[in-house]
Parts: sequence; structure tokens; C-alpha cells
Amino acid sequence: MKYVVGEDLGTSSVKVLLVDQKGTVHYSVSKDYPLIQPQPGYSEQNPEDWIEQTIQALKQLVNESGVNPDNIEGLSFSGQMHGLVLLDNEHQVIRNAILRNDTRTTSQCKKIDHQLGGKLLDITKNPALEGFTLPKFLWVKENEPENLQKTSVFLLPKDYLRYRLTGKIHMDYSDAAGTLLLDVISKSWSAEILHNFDISVSICPPLVETEAFIGTILPEIAELTGLPPAVKGFAGGADNACGAIGAGILSEGKALCSIGTSGVFLTYENDKNKNYGGKVHLFNHGQKDSYYTMGVTLAAGYSLTWFKDTFSPNQTFSDLVEEAESSTIGANGLLFTPFSAGERTPYADAKIRGTFTGMDSSHKRGDFTRAVIEGIVFSIHESVELFRNYGKSIETVISIGGGAKSDLWLQIQADIFNAKIVKLQNEQGPCMGAAMVAAVGLGWFTSLKECAEEFIKADQVYEPKPENVRLYQEYYQVYKDVYLHIVSINHQLFDLRKKK
Ligand code: XUL
Repeated sequence: MKYVVGEDLGTSSVKVLLVDQKGTVHYSVSKDYPLIQPQPGYSEQNPEDWIEQTIQALKQLVNESGVNPDNIEGLSFSGQMHGLVLLDNEHQVIRNAILRNDTRTTSQCKKIDHQLGGKLLDITKNPALEGFTLPKFLWVKENEPENLQKTSVFLLPKDYLRYRLTGKIHMDYSDAAGTLLLDVISKSWSAEILHNFDISVSICPPLVETEAFIGTILPEIAELTGLPPAVKGFAGGADNACGAIGAGILSEGKALCSIGTSGVFLTYENDKNKNYGGKVHLFNHGQKDSYYTMGVTLAAGYSLTWFKDTFSPNQTFSDLVEEAESSTIGANGLLFTPFSAGERTPYADAKIRGTFTGMDSSHKRGDFTRAVIEGIVFSIHESVELFRNYGKSIETVISIGGGAKSDLWLQIQADIFNAKIVKLQNEQGPCMGAAMVAAVGLGWFTSLKECAEEFIKADQVYEPKPENVRLYQEYYQVYKDVYLHIVSINHQLFDLRKKK
């Protein structure tokens, strides 16, 4: 039997996965690394942490999987989108990576809007949002011009990891689409955008397809990890593109809900000219010449992790979720809005912050946990509603990530989305997508679709329960009102806190 490794460089950890030719998982391991948050709204990471932890993870996979490493043939990459990594002439990292959940760039977004107007949406299919890469570029240009002067090339997080593992510099279209520098339809760096912001095209890396063969791993990486030096590295893609591949979202009509650190509602998009007015993102898919559209809740699983770490650090997630089961639909009248990192869809508001509303002294911890889970799903439902308002039919949704790990989470998704929710057998998120990219790149399958038929199997289906749907629809109307009532208060608080 032959094997591939899928790797996913997330915002809080890197995961590696060992998969055979039938899609069976033989080993997986994650390694954490810290977020660096020197000021509210800042979110950075040291790229060296990604490399060290990936090497440790690969080493553990080789040592503990029980698989003969000589049978491992390929490796591919998935990663957190949008993060800016700047390299100098010697390809040394110039400063910490500025991540997708960093919100320091509101004024740069305004500048982009002012300079490009509607052209930005025409070219990139996306609006200027703090999380994307171009505003980060402009922030560095304004605040650390010496760092931009030293830059010979920029990369996104998993491209830097791939560079360190293979020695080759590239970026794939699915991740480049999240920079706001790519002409999404012509699949080339946009000369117009680069020119407008005086960014030289020479610092943009060569573009490749997700399935492209990049090179074998470097001899020193083979030595450090125990992988054979003949292991072939394939480009890979953005974590959302790989999540979609790993869940089989490869044709029109398929939709995905992924609840990890952030929450994503994603649909395959046949029509590249479909206009959602920039309200949801449209990106190149990892499958050649196709696209996906998605809405994002910035702090999804992150909200539950924050809640647990802050109020219940000694409990496990499953204990917390069990307590939430004993609460009611609507958490006994307690509502949570998961805006702790600002919000993307539908508000695009970096200053908004979270709330619990309706709290009284009868509320128990289970009500709070339930409110957090429901608030996350309500927030993702705002994306579902948006798609439906633009005429997309959403009847069946594949659920992946932390939100697919408990019956309660899955049933809440079915009831709030009013759609069938499918849980996959052996779901592995973007890591599986990356493994599939390597499997196709190696020629084990003729296409990602063929690979998906072999690798991806449905497990359980959660049907919406009409009475729950009705109740949740009432709570959802109240949930939507919360933003309107707190926006001004939150912006004032944000500005006051920043003044200190
Ligand atoms: C997408 C986004 C997140 C990250 C998660 O625009 O910011 O979903 O890709 O790592």
C-alpha cells in the first residue's frame, strides 16, 4: 500500500494526516503554536514556529504510524488564508506574519475603496476587508517602509511552509485569490491593482494550480523528519478550498459548513460572473477553473474555546456540550453574538464586539454554552440567508470541523439552517483535501472528483425538526436585531479602549 501526507497549517496549530490509496487514515497529529497579540486587534505569528512544529509533527507521524516511510509518496499543503509573510533577498523572514484575523487595517481598507472603487470587485470579486492581504501590505508600507523596501517576495503562510520543505517559491490560485492582488478570472496578478498601490510585480510569487508538482522535499527535511527524500510535494491550496475538496464540494449544488477557529459557509460556484455584490467572497477553487463562494464568521470555534478557557478551563469540550444539551432552544432566553474578533459576513465590521443578551440569575453554565453554540450557528446562518436571498437553493449541507463533532451541534445546524446536515465518516477537514491533492498529483486518480468518490463517505444525516426550526426562526429574528442595537455602543467602546 502507498500513502500520502496532507498538511494543514491552521491559525492555532498544524495538523498532518497519513492517508492510504483508499482514503483510510492511518495517523494524524496536531502541534500548537502561539498567537502574538501585542495590541488589541493585532494578530501575528512567528513563521519559524510553523516550521518547527510541522517538522515535529511529520517526525512523529513517521515514527509512530507504523507505516514503512518508503511507501509515503507525496505531500500537499493547506493553510490559513491571507496571512502576509515578507521575505528578503536571502529569503529570510523580515517580520512576523500578519494573520487573517488581524484587524489593524481599517484605514488601509478605506484607502483601497477610495482609490479603486468598483474596480476592486470587478477584478478580485471581493471587497477590501481587514483580513485580506493587500491592506496588510499597505499597513507595512505606511508604518514600516523599511520592511517593504527589504522585501524580495511575499508569500502566504502555507506557501512559506512549502518553500521551507521543498526550497521552491510559489503560490497557488486558490490562496492568491485571497490577497486582493489577483485578477480572479484571468488568473494573473492584477497589473492595475499593483500599479495603483505602487507594488512591484517582482515581489509576487509565480502562480500555480493546486495540483501542480513543485518538487521533492529537501534532503535536510528528509533527514529531520525521517520521510524519504523522494517524497513529492504538490502545491495545495487555501484551507477553505482544501476543506471543500476534502468534503467533496466539487460540483454545483454542494454546500459546506465548516466550524473551526472561524466559521465558513461555502458553496460551489459554477457561474464565475455571478454577482453577490461583494457580500460573500468568491475565490478560485482548488479544482482547476472552478470557483467557490463563501461567507465567514470570524470567531466561531474560537468563541467556544475562549468561553471554555475563560470560564471553565478544567472542563472538557464534551462536558460543556453535554451541559448545553440540558438547556433549551434559545438557551432559556440567552443570546450570544460571536463578534469577539469583529465580524466578516454580513457586517464587515472590525470594531464590533460580542455580547450576551437576556442574562438573568436563573441562567446556568449550560445556558451560556448553549447560547455560544447557537450564536455561532446564527451568525453562519446569516451567510446561508444571504445565499438563499440571491437565489441559491441550500437543502443539504456537509458539516466539518469542531461543529461536526457532536450530535447537539449538528442538530442545531439542521434546525437553524433548515437543511439536511451530513456528517462524514472519518472527517478530517482541509487536511484530507490536501491529501487528496497529493493523491491526484501522483496520478492515483484522474481527477479530484474521482478521488472524492473513493475517499469521502457520508455517515449520518441530521434532518431539520419542524418545531425546532419554527422556534429558531423566532430567535434568529431577535439575534439579527442585536447588531443594530449594539453597533454604535461597541464602536465607541472600541475607540475609547484604543485611546488608552
Ligand atoms: C477566509 C478566512 C478564514 C481562514 C481560516 O477568508 O479568513 O476562513 O481561511 O484559516
